[in-house]
Amino acid sequence: TPDLGTEFLERPLANPLMNAAGVWCTLAAQLDALADSEAAAIVTKSCTLVRRDGNPEPRYRALPLGSINSMGLPNEGYLYYLDYAAHHDYDHKPLFVSVSGLSLDDNLTIVAALRDVVLPALLEINLSCPNVPGKAQPGYDFEAMDELLAEVATAYRRPFGVKLPPYFDFAHFDTVAQILNRYEHLAFITCINSVGNALIIDTGQESAVIRPKDGFGGLGGDYVLPTALANVNAFHRRCPTKTIIGCGGVRTGEHVFQHLLAGATLVQVGTALYEEGPGIFQRLARELAELMAHKGYRRIDEFRGRLKTL
Ligand code: DOR
Repeated sequence: TPDLGTEFLERPLANPLMNAAGVWCTLAAQLDALADSEAAAIVTKSCTLVRRDGNPEPRYRALPLGSINSMGLPNEGYLYYLDYAAHHDYDHKPLFVSVSGLSLDDNLTIVAALRDVVLPALLEINLSCPNVPGKAQPGYDFEAMDELLAEVATAYRRPFGVKLPPYFDFAHFDTVAQILNRYEHLAFITCINSVGNALIIDTGQESAVIRPKDGFGGLGGDYVLPTALANVNAFHRRCPTKTIIGCGGVRTGEHVFQHLLAGATLVQVGTALYEEGPGIFQRLARELAELMAHKGYRRIDEFRGRLKTL
């Protein structure tokens, strides 16, 4: 049976699987369930300076081909996740802390706190939340993104990463990659966050299906797999010194395989984890191993990033 082992920033991991930020990771009991699952790493819900209730419900809807959400960053506030990080067993598996401050100052306060506690937690800066009314996604404002990264990279001297929104144009892939490549200890890039501001309509009700923002919300699941794979591969090609984390549309072992082939080192699971729960990691690991065995692969590094083109 194939070896699913991989390495992330020189640390060996049992497999490439983890949760996507936001799913099953808001409360300590949920994070504990991920720690006890077959996921090889964990990321916390994106945190803000102070606790947030998030947007009014209904704010998540499962769909035949995925999900739409406009949660609005409900979270316990960054001190809660720092406390969780202080008690986490890092020998068991790595813990990422996702940070989504509502301003540059908020981000810098949280990043400085994470720096000062000196834990092995890994910082993932979320540049791509589409769901806070009145707040644009930093990942779509290239100047603001560069300024934020310059400040974070100065304040925080350890390896860190960014969670990007999906891009749909080669000019944008080029510009963003050029910005990210300027920051040496920006070590990993997570592609993608949800495809923002989609509108799902219930024909019978002639209505939106979620309440916030007149029904506009981020798409996840099957809808977004091709966009996720494109972004993973686009940044894999343009940022050869950085590690890519794939996120988007992963529901089967075959989807994990495709993210790895496109160049991902770790693969995150969002919508499918929300629907199936932490037991999904065991299924995905089994399905990936079965597909690798069928293809004659013994290890992931025999095919990672080796997507063929025509
Ligand atoms: O789809 C998302 N929903 N992406 C985020 O970054 C935040 C989350 C939310 O809380 O709305």
